Amino acid sequence: MNRSKILHLLKSEHPVKDVVVRGWVKTRRDSKSIFFLEVNDGSCLENLQVVATGETGNFDIIQKILTGTSVKVTGDLVPSPAKGQRWELLAKKVEILGLTDSSYPLQKKRHSDEFLRTIAHLRPRTNKYGAMFRIRSEASFAVHLFFKERGFYHIHTPILTTLDCEGAGELFAVLEASRDNKQRAPLFDKTLYLTVSGQLAAEMFACSLGNVYTFGPAFRAENSNTPRHASEFWMVEPEVAFCDLHQNMDLAEEFVKSLVLFLLENCKPDLSLFSRFIDPELMPRLESICHLEFERIPYKKAVDILKKADISFSYPVKYGLDLQTEHERYLTENFFKKPVFVYDYPREIKPFYMRVNDDGQTVAAMDLLVPKTGELIGGSQREERLEVLEGQMESAGISKELYGWYLDSRRYGTVLHSGFGMGFERFLMLATGVKNIRDVIPFPRTPGTVLF
Ligand code: 4AD
Ligand code: MG
Repeated sequence: MNRSKILHLLKSEHPVKDVVVRGWVKTRRDSKSIFFLEVNDGSCLENLQVVATGETGNFDIIQKILTGTSVKVTGDLVPSPAKGQRWELLAKKVEILGLTDSSYPLQKKRHSDEFLRTIAHLRPRTNKYGAMFRIRSEASFAVHLFFKERGFYHIHTPILTTLDCEGAGELFAVLEASRDNKQRAPLFDKTLYLTVSGQLAAEMFACSLGNVYTFGPAFRAENSNTPRHASEFWMVEPEVAFCDLHQNMDLAEEFVKSLVLFLLENCKPDLSLFSRFIDPELMPRLESICHLEFERIPYKKAVDILKKADISFSYPVKYGLDLQTEHERYLTENFFKKPVFVYDYPREIKPFYMRVNDDGQTVAAMDLLVPKTGELIGGSQREERLEVLEGQMESAGISKELYGWYLDSRRYGTVLHSGFGMGFERFLMLATGVKNIRDVIPFPRTPGTVLF
């Protein structure tokens, strides 16, 4: 046995002899001839208390241990006389794996999020960011579990693309079209971009395999220096054949509830850190997301509510204008006090692929707005009628040649279908209550400190 994980040791039902623990020391406390080490190995939020007494023998080594030192401890797991912990490790041998010194930036004290972003490579060693990235991992698993249980297939859609327009935002160009480029990447004779969304590709698979989803990185070159936008983020995008806008909202609601429930069941200790130190309203909010029915209102009604609001917004509210974050947050936080779907947006402010409603003025779009985070999900029923879609592309100035493959799905056996995209980081903000998207990203980008 290479090592026992602290997560499992702390749950032990009985004492265990001769266990090996490897991890990083959070603190060392000396009391007469006894040393107390708080050791964390990343398997859980809690530390294991290691007690080294005279019998351990190697005090000269233990004295070199500082915050951040990595150690291997061999000893017996015994009941702890200390309050608040069931077990401790009575050390027989303490070995230093890696020394540290007083320049270690994570000395035991509270550090600001801004400072920690500048040392993103060490940040996961703190309680808060250790918890964050365990939650992120569990949430990612929960996404796959949700779709697996419902018979969806996971499709890996292209990350490099030559499509220059999806209507979702600005693109990062990886290689400009040039003769030089033709030699380096001969398959791509056009400018090569990073994808903004897997949707159009996923649609082709929904119109073949029925129920599919993608879960991958998306890149947007605009507007990334806000607390809610990142230039590189992960997006979950289900796409479902024979599914209309309202069934799409049903799926989105079930999805969000199921992810939250999964975290409540599987990440209690880590979530409790966020409810204790970051957002006292977190637990009640997560519970209410699981139990309350989400509100659903047409865009027109949202505008009416905003016009009557007794607060003054910085951006104008007018039928035909897109909703801004302040409007979205008013609807979900102040007015309804729960998640809200806004649907049937004006045609002009939405991308070409959304289905035109019978009124000719609106499209079958939906956004899910949630407290604290604002827009969590954006989706729509897709335009399945070839002529209408061609008309939409023409008004948007999109080349029918480049999108011939997309139009084929409407040419040959077209079907009604819908889907949505959920920003994975936005979901994590909702789940943990953190206010800045940079704090749910393993290596965040901030002006002046881009590590990778
Ligand atoms: O609303 P968006 O732009 O929709 C699409 O990309 C569609 N193709 C999705 C679909 O129907 N399959 O983006 C979807 C979600 C947003 O609601 C938001 O949660 C997140 O992606 N998002 C961002 N998250 C972080 N940083 C950014 N810059 C984001 N842009 C969008
Ligand atoms: Mg959107």
